[in-house]
Amino acid sequence: MIISIACDHGGFPLKTELVKILRAKNYEVLDRGSYDLNRVDYPEYAKAVCEDVVSKTASFGVLICTTGIGMSIYANKWKGIRAALVTNLESAHLTRQHNDSNIITMGARFTSIEDASLYVEAFVNESFEGGRHERRVNMINDKENEQ
Ligand code: RB5
Repeated sequence: MIISIACDHGGFPLKTELVKILRAKNYEVLDRGSYDLNRVDYPEYAKAVCEDVVSKTASFGVLICTTGIGMSIYANKWKGIRAALVTNLESAHLTRQHNDSNIITMGARFTSIEDASLYVEAFVNESFEGGRHERRVNMINDKENEQ
């Protein structure tokens, strides 16, 4: 499974550790930056991950900034992206089951590396339940297509 991941300066230490852990678990990881602690603009880095997910170059995306909020707002402007800001393990499962989310965002200030790794593994290995949830996701897609 290919996972595309990016961060800004606020998420850089967490992203660096997470990439190591995911690769050690044999996930193929596309590390789209940033690559150091220099201050950057998170949309620039989120863009590459959104492109990877929309083009199906990657199955899932992971975006990390200080709060996870900016990354989430940006990614959700993309047609075909459903990005979920995840702060607990149950949400990591539920947003895949119910929303068919394809990007997980996390706030480095509030997420330990142990939790981040648990959330991402739960997210990428969980399935969409479809059924009534599919109807709701279709309503989101309809809204996207109106714009
Ligand atoms: C960067 O200072 C910070 O604004 C960013 O990491 C993120 O938390 C924005 O939502």
